[in-house]
Amino acid sequence: MTARRPDGRTAKIAVIPGDGIGPEVIEAAIPILDRVAAKHGFSLNWEHLPYSADHYLETKETLPEAGFRHLRDDVDAIFLGALGDPRVPGNEHARDILLGLRFKLDLYVNFRPVELLHPDLTPLRNSGTIDFVIFRENTEGQYLGRGRTSGDEHIAEEVNTGKGVERIIRAAFEWARSHGRKRVTMSDKSNAIPTHRIWQDRFKTIAREYPNIAADHRYVDALALEMVREPQRLDVIVTNNLYGDILSDLGAGLVGGLGIAASANLHPGKRNALFEPVHGSAPALAGRGVASAHRAGLNPS
Ligand code: IPM
Ligand code: MG
Repeated sequence: MTARRPDGRTAKIAVIPGDGIGPEVIEAAIPILDRVAAKHGFSLNWEHLPYSADHYLETKETLPEAGFRHLRDDVDAIFLGALGDPRVPGNEHARDILLGLRFKLDLYVNFRPVELLHPDLTPLRNSGTIDFVIFRENTEGQYLGRGRTSGDEHIAEEVNTGKGVERIIRAAFEWARSHGRKRVTMSDKSNAIPTHRIWQDRFKTIAREYPNIAADHRYVDALALEMVREPQRLDVIVTNNLYGDILSDLGAGLVGGLGIAASANLHPGKRNALFEPVHGSAPALAGRGVASAHRAGLNPS
């Protein structure tokens, strides 16, 4: 799935290098993307923006309203490095910038491919082909940060709306259909969390519209096991925000590590899109030029 092809021959890309290893990863990625764009007959016009922990600590501003409007209205895509810094323990700048953009631009699809590019990259023995994608719901769940603390009770609420659940499931089936994929697996925890019935119900209803695609279900714990035991059986996974976050790190671990895992935040049919790696800012690795070596089988030091 890609963002809408930009009109004309130049696409304007806003870059938010962010914190930790973010800037060095972005610096390495830009020349590669320039070459890919050239191959496809257009060029990229990069605009670097300062939003980061440094910027927040200096100015007290995370993502100002004018900056948000610029990202929404004036650019063809956003390219983000990583966010997270020990000097901001509450991670409030990351919440405003990364989660804020996902929510406010309504980028409800977090598309995370898990593809084994070379057999040496996986820690599994005899894994065979690994090539599946995770459709992670990106605008609801526990990520809304709703909840409360009363006395010794710390309550985190998980929001699942019919609209939100339906549109991510549909996006997964649509993508499966347009890419010749054969199976969509929905993952929830409805055996323990009663409100996850909504996932069961919507999945069954929508699956009927796609009779040529097999629809199955795994509780998220069982899916984690299957990802390690038989990843070659997986095709398209659709799940909620938190489970998609966790499973996509596991998926990255199966194919070479977080250093090479990709993530697209999309609203199908809309221009806005935010592209980022799956990894965090890894402050301990920052500035050492070892970010991409920090993966299965390679010694980062
Ligand atoms: C990811 C990251 C983020 C998330 C963090 C940095 C808030 O782990 O994109 O997977 O949990 O969504
Ligand atoms: Mg994550």
